[in-house]
Amino acid sequence: MRILMVCLGNICRSPIAEGVLQHLADAKGLDWTVDSAGTESYHIGEAPHRLSQKICLAHGIDISHQRARQFKKADMVLYDKIYALADDVLEEIKTIAGKDYNANKIDLLLNELNPDENESVPDPYYGGEDGYVTVYKMVEEVCKAILSKY
Ligand code: 4NP
Repeated sequence: MRILMVCLGNICRSPIAEGVLQHLADAKGLDWTVDSAGTESYHIGEAPHRLSQKICLAHGIDISHQRARQFKKADMVLYDKIYALADDVLEEIKTIAGKDYNANKIDLLLNELNPDENESVPDPYYGGEDGYVTVYKMVEEVCKAILSKY
């Protein structure tokens, strides 16, 4: 199973989601590959934000090897499941994917926890450390819910 987590910059939210879901899947012995991308190009090639790295490491997850990349049309075909961390991200994925957009493969991440509520993981980029702690908690809860189905 190949899963892609997508946010805007691929330096704050989706790197945490990639790290947490990969960690939980590995612990369960599942053969899953979890990856992440951003819809925007501002941070291509950068490591995750230091506060995303910090909160993950505090939970025993090292995400320092990750590098930001931009979501591309071909990802729609390459992955079995794609999760958008926020509603604006989902709209941008639709634009980038164009006619390759496959609604069966994609959902807002938090819909795995609260189906059809269409909630977004808040963007922590312009705030302080608290925002990253909140993102981590939300992401961990939803990733556990995803894993409980397998
Ligand atoms: P992310 O957060 O989408 O969770 O990686 C952001 C990172 C950078 C920017 C916006 C959001 N930015 O505007 O540069």
